[in-house]
Amino acid sequence: MEIYDSTALAKRRLRPMQAQGLRVGLVPTMGALHDGHLSLIAAAKKRAEIVVASIFVNPMQFGPSEDFARYPRDLEGDAKKLEGAGCDAVFAPSVADVYPEGFQTAVEVSGVTQGLCGAVRPGHFRGVTTVVLKLFQIVRPDVAVFGEKDYQQLTVLRTMARDLALDVEIIGAPLLREPDGLALSSRNAYLSPEERRQALALSRGLTAAAALYAQGERDGSALLAQARQALDQAGLSPEYLELRSAVDLAPLSRADQACVILVAVRVGKTRLIDNWILARP
Ligand code: PAJ
Repeated sequence: MEIYDSTALAKRRLRPMQAQGLRVGLVPTMGALHDGHLSLIAAAKKRAEIVVASIFVNPMQFGPSEDFARYPRDLEGDAKKLEGAGCDAVFAPSVADVYPEGFQTAVEVSGVTQGLCGAVRPGHFRGVTTVVLKLFQIVRPDVAVFGEKDYQQLTVLRTMARDLALDVEIIGAPLLREPDGLALSSRNAYLSPEERRQALALSRGLTAAAALYAQGERDGSALLAQARQALDQAGLSPEYLELRSAVDLAPLSRADQACVILVAVRVGKTRLIDNWILARP
């Protein structure tokens, strides 16, 4: 597996392969990799001959009081995991390479970035879309894979790709969970054992709502109340808990179309998000 530590090297290595007609798949990440990330590599391998993972903790998508400085970093460990997963190359540029002095451009998607995480993390999606478009320009992937774990992010990136007529196919991959239901996340490393137990309320609440939906309940308030009960019992109050369209994240009061329940909760100092797709588009 090759490691590209700069934009220049990545372009130099990738362009000749692309000139030969090899299809490139990109899996953007911020590192601290877990099996959820590795499942994206597997999804990319099915669709491309060359799979590139990027590892870049993107300062532009973190707010001033967020965890950019202490975000877990382990390039060596990540490289081993990626090699084991059959990844062909890792693109791990420096901050100065991605944001050189004088950098003054941003990509901003409007509607779908409002609300949910966009309301709690102003500027977050602007940072995500800007860096992802830049990664696309450097790598020029035919296909890029993102997790449904970050459902709003996936929807925002699909919107960007459509609106800007990008020549890249955006693939959403299923959310991977621990055996006890906790959604895999790099931020789970922050949780104390007690917080880890509390955090199970997210998936417990979502599965309870999904069970009610399976019994035929379609009233949004009833479904959300079911999810909220589990959070209440764990002493957690959500930043948001909402029923939205699974297509464009429009707010819904009834679950009678493709829809998803999205939740964000702070457990101690750690912010966790989760979601459950009740009906796929
Ligand atoms: P990061 O949080 O490292 O996530 C990288 C990718 O892994 C995202 O597409 C995310 O949805 C996916 N992922 C995370 N946990 C997952 C899980 N449990 N199951 C399936 N997929 C999972 O998301 C980002 O980085 C950044 O915002 C990025 C897109 C790289 C831009 O900086």
